[in-house]
Amino acid sequence: MTAQDLEGRHALITGAASGIGRACALELAGRGARVTIADLDGDGAAAVAREVGGEAWQVDLARTHELDDLTLDVDILINNAGIQRVSPIQDFDPAAFRLIQDLMLVAPFLLIRAALPGMYERGWGRVINLSSVHGLRASAFKSAYVAAKHGLEGLSKVTALEGGAHGVTSNCVNPGYVRTPLVEKQIADQARIHGIPESEVVERIMITESAVKRLVEPTEVASLVGWLASDNAGMVTGASYTMDGGWSAR
Ligand SMILES: NC(=O)c1ccc[n+]([C@@H]2O[C@H](COP(=O)([O-])OP(=O)(O)OC[C@H]3O[C@@H](n4cnc5c(N)ncnc54)[C@H](O)[C@@H]3O)[C@@H](O)[C@H]2O)c1
Repeated sequence: MTAQDLEGRHALITGAASGIGRACALELAGRGARVTIADLDGDGAAAVAREVGGEAWQVDLARTHELDDLTLDVDILINNAGIQRVSPIQDFDPAAFRLIQDLMLVAPFLLIRAALPGMYERGWGRVINLSSVHGLRASAFKSAYVAAKHGLEGLSKVTALEGGAHGVTSNCVNPGYVRTPLVEKQIADQARIHGIPESEVVERIMITESAVKRLVEPTEVASLVGWLASDNAGMVTGASYTMDGGWSAR
């Protein structure tokens, strides 16, 4: 049986209607936390909330001005919502570039900003940012995503420095390719841009840099997130934990 080491904690997970976020919701709820599922997909959020006995918050986190005055009463904040667009820079839609910065960098800033006062008051908090190997390494055709994730790395470290004296830690988790809808949706685009069949995208594009030749599973990422949220990780802050099968060892 999983230890109930997060009992009494309230966690907010963005993008938790699907993929890694949903796996994190199951992990944290399994460890006793009360979980709020924040997602653009209201039905998906409600379904996961039912699954974990939590609450759903339907929200478009790309509408960042609506988050300016937010207050969040949470102990654990998991910034996870994300999207991907794959295109060479000269063809990259400027609106898509801005959308990715808003959703994946500005929104995490505003949610951290909204959550810190309560965490400081209680003297305990966990900010966990779903970055990526692309927070540490670049790949062609992913200018917006790589820029946003590198920005998130910086935001996470500043949060760690400011939060340390208040019992608040902030860390990034940096997976390689994880088996989720976000990756499945990318396969056709990658095939077109690289001029290869869709059936060869995983092997020839996604896991070429990885020493372990498979996709990461969402539950594997969630188990690391669960540990980072626990008291055992109290001295871990300002760090970026790779789970990329060795990609960034190169
Ligand atoms: N899948 C991977 O290979 C991989 C690898 C490294 C990092 N990541 C990161 O992990 C995070 C989760 O990715 P995933 O693969 O689970 O994706 P996913 O597509 O399965 O889930 C993303 C969720 O975000 C939600 N979302 C999208 N736009 C939103 C908005 N405007 N407001 C609120 N919610 C919104 C979606 O509805 C969806 O439920 C992302 O930040 C992603 O960059 C994923």
